[in-house]
Amino acid sequence: MKIYKAADYNEMSRKAANVIAAQVIMKPDCVLGLATGSTPIGTYEQLVEKNKAGELDFSEVKSVNLDEYKGLPRTNDQSYYYFMHEHLFDKVNIKPENTHLPDGTKEDSAKECAQYEEVIRSLGGVDLQLLGLGHNGHIGFNEPADAFDKETHCVDLQESTIEANKRFFASADDVPRQAYTMGIGTIMRAKKILVVVSGEDKADIVAKAFFGPVTPSVPASILQMHNDVTIVADAAALSKV
Ligand code: GLP
Repeated sequence: MKIYKAADYNEMSRKAANVIAAQVIMKPDCVLGLATGSTPIGTYEQLVEKNKAGELDFSEVKSVNLDEYKGLPRTNDQSYYYFMHEHLFDKVNIKPENTHLPDGTKEDSAKECAQYEEVIRSLGGVDLQLLGLGHNGHIGFNEPADAFDKETHCVDLQESTIEANKRFFASADDVPRQAYTMGIGTIMRAKKILVVVSGEDKADIVAKAFFGPVTPSVPASILQMHNDVTIVADAAALSKV
C-alpha cells in the first residue's frame, strides 16, 4: 500500500484527483470505479476544474459506481445517481451512456445485482476504483460481517451507517434500509484502488483497517491484500497510525 499524507482536505482532494487524472491520461478509455459520500466531493471538484481547463478529457472514459440505495428513484436528491450527476457527470464531458450505477428502483435484487456484475465484466473490469471509508470500515456498502461478500449484492444497512447518513435526509426514518453494492470481490478485482480519507473521526478506523488484522469485521482491511492500493489521507485521518 502506498500512503500519501496530505496536510488537509484540499490537499487530499488535489492529490487524489491527480492520481485519477494520471489514469485517464495513460488510458483515455479507462473504466473508473466511482464512489459517493462527502469525502470524494473535493476530488470531483478538482476533476471538473481540470476538465474545464482542457487538461483532462473524459470523452472516452467509462464509469461504474460502487453502490446505490435500494428504493430511491434517480430523481431523489439523495440517490447516488443524482449525486454523481450533480458533482461530476453533468460538469465534465463524459458521455451519459458511458456512466453506470446499480438501479435502486429495481425490485428484483438478484437480477439487478447479476446484471450489474455483467455490466462491469462487459466493460473489461475496473482500471481504477475510488473508495471512501465508512466509520465502521465499510467500503461501498459492504458492512462488517462474518465473511467477505464477493459479488454485487443487496445489503441491509447497519444502524451506525443509517445514523451516519441521516444528515443528508430529513430524518433517520427517511434513510433507505437497503442498498445495492459491489461486493468485496468486485472491488478487489479492480486493477488499481485509490482510497480517500479525511478527518479525525476516521483516525481510529484508518488505524484498524490499514494496520490491523485482515478481517470481514473491518471490510476495508482486505485492501491490505491488494497489490496496487494508494491511500490519500489527510493528517487528521492519519493521526492514530
Ligand atoms: C457511504 C457510502 C460509502 C462512503 C461512506 C463514507 O455510506 N456508501 O461509499 O465511502 O459512506 O462516507 P463519507 O465520505 O461521507 O464519510
